[in-house]
Amino acid sequence: MGLERLEEVRASFVADLEAAGTDPGAVEKLRVAYAGRKSGLLLELTAALRELPNEAKRDYGQALNELKKFVENGLKDAKQSASASAETRSAHRVDVTLPGRALPRGAEHPIHLVRRRIEEIFLRMGYDVESGPEIEDDWHNFEALNMPPDHPARDDQDTFYIGSEYLLRTQTSPVQARVMERRQPPIRIVVPGRVYRRDSDLRHSPMFHQLEGLVVDEGITVGHLKATLETFLHTLFSDDVKVRLRPSYFPFTEPSAEVDISCIFCNMKGCGVCSGSGWIEILGSGMVDPRVFEAVGIDPERYTGFAFGLGLDRVAMLQYGIPDLRQLFAGDQRLTRQFE
Ligand code: DAH
Repeated sequence: MGLERLEEVRASFVADLEAAGTDPGAVEKLRVAYAGRKSGLLLELTAALRELPNEAKRDYGQALNELKKFVENGLKDAKQSASASAETRSAHRVDVTLPGRALPRGAEHPIHLVRRRIEEIFLRMGYDVESGPEIEDDWHNFEALNMPPDHPARDDQDTFYIGSEYLLRTQTSPVQARVMERRQPPIRIVVPGRVYRRDSDLRHSPMFHQLEGLVVDEGITVGHLKATLETFLHTLFSDDVKVRLRPSYFPFTEPSAEVDISCIFCNMKGCGVCSGSGWIEILGSGMVDPRVFEAVGIDPERYTGFAFGLGLDRVAMLQYGIPDLRQLFAGDQRLTRQFE
């Protein structure tokens, strides 16, 4: 009897509390067993006070009060966590009979559709599809393509620089250099990819898409260039479109040509899309400049080649009649859903 008994009851309460956990029924049983008004253990311990000799009553009484508080607090906490966990259980309950929610269906982006179509056309002609890094070094983006540091053509490109050596590629042409560095001819490749320029308005986006083409072998002539691009453009648009080569300048080709197709919207009568000219500029091209071959370790005496580059975004806008370039990059599903 006495203080040891109080210690025993405290220890067993702690153990029972632990065992009851967050089960509300078990917590309630515990309350009745220890703090019940009619027969709880604490009641018994209070009754025992009377049996004690007077000199022991003070200490026992104090310890008993502490124990009562201890039990009271323990029960209060247990009740609270039992009801909290009941709440989370019901909130997380899974109703397996609930019908499933349909996920919104996505669709291929028009640029991706155009890219795949063009890849297919060239794959059928025996080309490989290549790729290269979007973070490029100055050498591949400019120098190897016959644009040394002081070259004026660098100004047109509004480059995003990353430190002094790296940049976001301004064109897919650096992949030409990368492929020629690691492969000897014959080479027939197309390279689709993202390119970057510091430019943003109705017709320009700081990120846009190009597709590069490169053919290198013995005996490649302007005739091959012209026939290849005509076949490509007829397949992509229609056999009826007229194709014309216009002399132009690019640092990495000599001679260079810009390629136009007859306007597919007005049939050459002149409209807003072709600015009244009847022609739409569609790609840049030319015969690979021998200096590019020298830079990448291909013998310019033995090999010749042609290259071309076109804007995929522009082709998507023409093919699907999308008036504003920025619509392509707004991430609005109302655009892409039209291509399901
Ligand atoms: N890289 C050029 C540009 O971004 C496009 C281009 C023109 C690529 C002529 C070529 C080419 O391969 O031969 O404007």
